[in-house]
Amino acid sequence: MAQIQKIGVMTSGGDSPGMNAAIRAVVRTAIFNGLDVFGIYRGYEGMIDGQIEQMYSHSVSNIIQRGGTILKTARSKRFMEYKGRLTAYQNLMERKIDALIAIGGNGTFTGASIFDKEFNFPIIGLPGTIDNDLYGTDATIGYDTAINTVVEAADKIRDTATSHDRLFFIEVMGRDAGFIALRSGIACGAEFILVPETTTYIDNLARLLRHDWRKNKTSGIVIVAEGDDMGGAIEVARKMKEKLPDLDTRVTILGHVQRGGSPSAFDRVLASSLGFLAVRGLLEGNRGVMAGIIDKQVVYTPFDKAIKHHKDINKDMLEMSRILAL
Ligand code: F6P
Repeated sequence: MAQIQKIGVMTSGGDSPGMNAAIRAVVRTAIFNGLDVFGIYRGYEGMIDGQIEQMYSHSVSNIIQRGGTILKTARSKRFMEYKGRLTAYQNLMERKIDALIAIGGNGTFTGASIFDKEFNFPIIGLPGTIDNDLYGTDATIGYDTAINTVVEAADKIRDTATSHDRLFFIEVMGRDAGFIALRSGIACGAEFILVPETTTYIDNLARLLRHDWRKNKTSGIVIVAEGDDMGGAIEVARKMKEKLPDLDTRVTILGHVQRGGSPSAFDRVLASSLGFLAVRGLLEGNRGVMAGIIDKQVVYTPFDKAIKHHKDINKDMLEMSRILAL
């Protein structure tokens, strides 16, 4: 492989807190290693539209603590077509960009994998998503902050639930994975946690809740991952009301509040380390892989594996959460 001299960096897919810290680390590590670094705006969309600008050390000043992404982000439909990818490739060639660091999730890495195979273009991915649903890393950038956001909100809801003797259904993000639901549910002492990875039986849930109420409970919280097989929090609450009409229930959908905000210290350190390691990884000849951290060690996982291999939630923790809420 010819020596890398110019790299691009972009964020793509849903934003996540810590993406700015990762961009900062990539830019400064690249400059330290004598590379030119270019920011690509709005993910693959900006790559197709040629929204590409050189970045300098000062371009990333004062961003480590900011949520969102200074490079902006998008979910690109045009990049799914060969025509879009060809235009993107031509734009990179025009600027003599040799390699790319792509920060995002499943969709980002699917695009990156195809692009590398079609145009023989070196790419390293960084796991940037609040969902934590990528194989090949213990945590994704933004996951920890999102959990803390949920816990802060759930604690507040707990106050009003207790005052009014109500049962709250709180919906958290996670279309296909229950990581946010599980961890935040344990941290806020939820009575139940419903996740896409397990089947939710409404009769069973109603029976257990009735039992809880008969014992001593007068209020509670059920955390529902948006991708639960029974539906989101509105649907679960509606079904529960049919079974337990006496309970005073309310629904809160936390939505995109989980994607914003200043990244936690954990996410800033994770993002900084991964940004640094990604540049080093590219210079050492790695490509077509996602850089992750497992048991404090850097691990490079091929894109196809990071996307297709299933990272499972810890079902023992689900059981534990129920015991602790009795
Ligand atoms: O993948 C991250 C995520 O926040 C999911 O948890 C959620 O289902 C989805 O993005 C929402 O996407 P959008 O912002 O495009 O509506």
